[in-house]
Amino acid sequence: MRILITAGPTREYLDDVRYLSNASSGRMGYAIAEAVLAAGHQAVLVSGPVMLTPPHGSEVHPVETTAELHDVCNRLFQDCDGAIATAAVCDYRPRARFPGKLAKTGVSLELELVETADVLADLGLQKGHRWLVGFALESDEFAHVNALRKLKHKNCDAIVLNRPTAIGSTTNQIEIINPVGATVASFSGAKTDVAHELWNWISVQLVK
Ligand code: CTP
Repeated sequence: MRILITAGPTREYLDDVRYLSNASSGRMGYAIAEAVLAAGHQAVLVSGPVMLTPPHGSEVHPVETTAELHDVCNRLFQDCDGAIATAAVCDYRPRARFPGKLAKTGVSLELELVETADVLADLGLQKGHRWLVGFALESDEFAHVNALRKLKHKNCDAIVLNRPTAIGSTTNQIEIINPVGATVASFSGAKTDVAHELWNWISVQLVK
């Protein structure tokens, strides 16, 4: 099987040297790619800028912006059997990217942000017989409700709920939520171990 995995952050540029982004390390996605490869499948890793070495044998497609992630995923998903979206995607980008480096003017600067594409939701629209697993990063008491809303909106077969403490960490605590909102599995520990448990669950429950 050929599995598409998104990983890491995206960047949205204000000018040629400054960008908006987040602290995603890419570890969860890279660990999943490793688990997929260890199970004898192909891992197609679409990765934002991270400091990690891709797992040996993975097919890596580096991207920087959400628009690039969107284009590359739409193209590659055609030949994949399923996708796992761990990327911490920037939901907004500056309306304009200034050429060169913005200089100080002595007055405050207003930044207008516009929404970027929802990559996973677009894969959900075209998924057909393929399966899709999203990640939901939730910080408040409505975590489960929010995660289920994202699962439905993005047409996923399962969504992995995790918390902001996962960002940049080597460990993670996840719950897998199914399309009726039930928590069907929970795993915690090193991201490498959690990735293997998650892949085992996907291969038993979603892979036909
Ligand atoms: N995702 C995506 N494209 C986006 C935003 C998110 O593909 N523009 C994917 C993420 O990779 C993840 C899932 O959608 O698998 C949920 O991401 P999350 O950041 O938790 O939620 P958002 O969709 O951004 O929703 P909200 O801003 O309401 O938290």
